[in-house]
Amino acid sequence: MSAPDRIEEFVLALQTGFIDGSITKLKLGGYHGPEADLKSVEARKVTIKAGERLSFVFRYKTRDITKNLVIDEAMSFVRDGLLNEFRSARLETTDFDLQFERQGDKIRLKKTEVAGREAVQGGHDRTKNRPLTSGDKVWMQALGISGADGKVLAASQDKFRQINKMVEIFAPLIQELSTKKPRIVDMGAGKGYLDFALFDYLKSEGKDAEVIGVEMRPKLVEDGNKLAEKSGFGALSFVPASILDYDASGADAVIALHACDTATDDAIFKGISSGAELIAVAPCCHKQVRRQMEAGSSDNRLDFLLRHGTFMEKQAEMVTDGLRALLLEASGYRTKVFEFVSDAHTPKNNLIVAQKGKAGSREAALKRIAEVKAMFGIEKHYLENLLGLN
Ligand SMILES: C[S@@+](CC[C@H](N)C(=O)[O-])C[C@H]1O[C@@H](n2cnc3c(N)ncnc32)[C@H](O)[C@@H]1O
Repeated sequence: MSAPDRIEEFVLALQTGFIDGSITKLKLGGYHGPEADLKSVEARKVTIKAGERLSFVFRYKTRDITKNLVIDEAMSFVRDGLLNEFRSARLETTDFDLQFERQGDKIRLKKTEVAGREAVQGGHDRTKNRPLTSGDKVWMQALGISGADGKVLAASQDKFRQINKMVEIFAPLIQELSTKKPRIVDMGAGKGYLDFALFDYLKSEGKDAEVIGVEMRPKLVEDGNKLAEKSGFGALSFVPASILDYDASGADAVIALHACDTATDDAIFKGISSGAELIAVAPCCHKQVRRQMEAGSSDNRLDFLLRHGTFMEKQAEMVTDGLRALLLEASGYRTKVFEFVSDAHTPKNNLIVAQKGKAGSREAALKRIAEVKAMFGIEKHYLENLLGLN
């Protein structure tokens, strides 16, 4: 791996840790830049009134200076810093430590798994800024998240947690979009939990955004539109359509939460073909690829795993989503997959986040796709067909 690739890997780990909340600390050292008194720089994730930030403390000989940066600014600062001014860096997350060392042209990156490290709270006013701290909202009561007293219902705690987490993850990604008034399209919106929560939160943050929920069941669309009107959410609407038929042109972000089986692929395809800057999907069931893996033409060195139904299910899920990530990379998106809530709350807890640009080589991704398909006996991935790659 080349030196710039190693720096990029470090910066991507920083971004992922920021988005999924696993980052606990960042430290940059070995400074040899123009500021004579600067000794080191440390950073933590915080949530301030303006949103989530990385709070950098610049430690000088006689004073400390704090600067709160949005994640894109933070990534640029760290990328440039590692290239030019800092010889070492350490990223600490709840799951691993990543140590960066540069000596001359040589760069070393070492990852060490850790266990039992607690996530840090994102700043003193984190709770206040959570979108769903109060159940006292028309839409939450109408959707059965909270009761007439404004308290979250016991049966809706998991849904409440999931949506809260999704909004926490999506909101900074949406703030990063290059347009001031983004159009966000949610594919397979269902009753629109995520759309109401996201719209409400962005509005409370003063962010102008249009949110459109695409849903094939007309009754849900009708109810969603009535509730949006009742809530005074003028730029939130629901459209009755199948994902593939929906004209997504002009979408800046395409999201999908638990759209069934290949509906997730439809959503990804619509995101790619409309040129959306951000695509984020939490997949649901994984039948399309599983059927082919079950047909039994996988590399037989995998037999010891795939003959057990439970491993087959997990493997099919990972292979399906791993291929989705590669297909997104082949389409020009930098992609990562992570758990957005604990699997104690939902087993469908993976989130694929893809941001347009800075992807690796298309050829390398296509080659890897072909290898993975051969290994697992997969003739076609449905998304691959939609993209015209098979
Ligand atoms: C499991 S629900 C999830 C709903 C919502 N995203 C949530 O997480 O609360 C999946 C929804 O996607 C819709 N859906 C599935 N396939 C679709 C398609 N091809 N086009 C439009 N909607 C679709 C279903 O009608 C259903 O409401």
